[in-house]
Parts: sequence; structure tokens; C-alpha cells
Amino acid sequence: MPRQSILIARAISPEVVDFLRQHFDVHTNQDDVVWSPEELAQQLQGKDGVLTTGSQTINAALLAACPQLKVVSNMAVGYNNFDVPAMTAAGVQGTNAPDVLTETTADFGFALLMATARRVTESEHYLRAGLWKEWRYDLFAGSEVHGSTLGIIGMGRIGQGIAKRGAHGFGMKVVYHNRSRLTPELEAECKASYVSKEELLKTADHVVLVLPFTPENRHTIGAAELAQMKPTATLINIARGGIVDDAALAQALRAKTIAAAGLDVFEGEPAVHPDLLTVPNVVLTPHIASATMTTRRAMAQLAADNLVAVLGGQAPRTPVNQPDAAARALRWA
Ligand code: GLV
Repeated sequence: MPRQSILIARAISPEVVDFLRQHFDVHTNQDDVVWSPEELAQQLQGKDGVLTTGSQTINAALLAACPQLKVVSNMAVGYNNFDVPAMTAAGVQGTNAPDVLTETTADFGFALLMATARRVTESEHYLRAGLWKEWRYDLFAGSEVHGSTLGIIGMGRIGQGIAKRGAHGFGMKVVYHNRSRLTPELEAECKASYVSKEELLKTADHVVLVLPFTPENRHTIGAAELAQMKPTATLINIARGGIVDDAALAQALRAKTIAAAGLDVFEGEPAVHPDLLTVPNVVLTPHIASATMTTRRAMAQLAADNLVAVLGGQAPRTPVNQPDAAARALRWA
């Protein structure tokens, strides 16, 4: 039997490419060319599986153009680049890469919160521009982190990691809002209390967004929500672009409706709303919350393990759907 053939759609850790070569005929993109949807469909001709990174859209048109494709393995916990119902109907297995990035991403959430509250990048720009002439009692005075109220919207594994850091490390009072309440045991572990979204927005000193992107979550934070927040509050988005209305946020930052924001994700990224680039009270990072080489390698390895499992006829470790059996059979015929 000929070896199965896979595509790795973006550059990944070379060790994981070598691992995949032990199992498959591997086509890589280690030069990291960003393909158009048409180019991706072209590259996928004759492939049994693909390792994606979250920046490739997998929809019905692509799946119809690639009748041999059996599995799409995302090297990301979020999979809003997948049209999951279309994949299920087309008999294609989707997988994601949760867990291995939880603590690293929670670390970054906290880093962004602290950088934002304590105005780290804004003050660094001032210093680099040669503007620092004297120490002043109120120079770049920010807001307290320890002992303040931390509000987390989206209390999955990463949200819980941030809650623990805040409650146990910084003595913060933690409130959260989520689709469903945590068990009493988990709430105790995170020292977190469940509140309505409105109460969270009104009471939190630091609001951190860690919820998945779904069409219903689009603009979870818009002008109305920003108006409910304290004028001294900070907003942190490490979830997905589109959860925040970036235009409304830029306006609120300029008007000081809230004090500051820290954003790792953007609507339409890698484009950034131009107004965000001109307001000083926002810390901007290029979607790096899970970016340590250890974690990125672990994410790639999990995505690779899922490919090996599915194409070997086994259940993947972290599936996101259950493909339609009849449509799957056609792809495996
Ligand atoms: C990164 O954004 C991820 O979803 O893993």
C-alpha cells in the first residue's frame, strides 16, 4: 500500500516534521508562505490529512475540492477557522490542540494584564524616545494588581489558570462569568465566584476575556459593555479577535471610558484597527499568548499525534467532531 500523504500548512518545529516523516509522505511549507484558499486547495490535492495552524479556513468548498482529505488537525486550541458542521457532513475528522498550552497561555494573560495595568510598554516608548528628564511621583502611575478585583469572562482551562494566578499569587478577588458554572470544587480551587456579565463589568478592576469565538460571542464587549466598566478598569483580550468591537474599544480608550487595554488578538488580524495604533493606553501583541518554543512544539506534537491516530484508524486524542459515517466511508474508500 502506498504511504499516506499529508500536508503541513505552515512552518512548525522541525522535530515534529521529522516525527511525521516516520509515518507519512510529508509535504511541508517550512518557508511559511501564507497561501490563499485556492492555493491551499491546490496543495491539498491527493492529501489524506493536513496540519493547520488556525489561520487556514476549512469550509465546505475546500472539503468538496479535496475528496481524499480525511483529517484536519489544528495546532491551536481555538478552531473557529473550521466550519465544523461542514466537516462533519463531509465525513472529515477535525481535531484541536488543547491542554498543552493552558499554563503558558495563562502566564501570558497575566503578563499582558500586568503590562497594561502598570503601563509597561507606554512608559518604555517614552523612555526610548528620550523624553525621560526627571523622576516624578505620578510618572506613568498605573492601577493596582494585587488585592484588586479580577473579572474573567470564559472560565475554561485557561481562564481557571488565570484565576489561580490572581487569587493565589496576587491576593485578588476573582469573579467570573461563563456559559455554565464551575463545580463547587473548581470554584474553591480557583477561589472564584460566579456573577452575571453585568455585575462583572461593573465591579472588576481588570477584565480578562478567555472565551472561544462563536458567532454568538461576536462583540461580547462593545460600546455598551465598555460603558458599564469602571473608568479605572483595564480590559485584556487573549481569546479571539471579534469578541471585542475594536473600533468601539479604541474610542473608549481615547475617551478614557476605561483606563487601558491589552490585546493579543484582533478583528481581521494580522490587520489591526488603525485607531488602536494611535491610542497610547493600549498594549498590543501579535497573537503570541502560547508562544514559547516548548509549548509550540507540544502543540505541534499533539496535532501530529492526532494525524497519526486518525490516519491509522484510531480515535484522536482531542477530536472536535464526529464525522458522518457514510461520508467518511467515501473518503476512506
Ligand atoms: C491560539 O490562539 C490557539 O487557539 O491555540
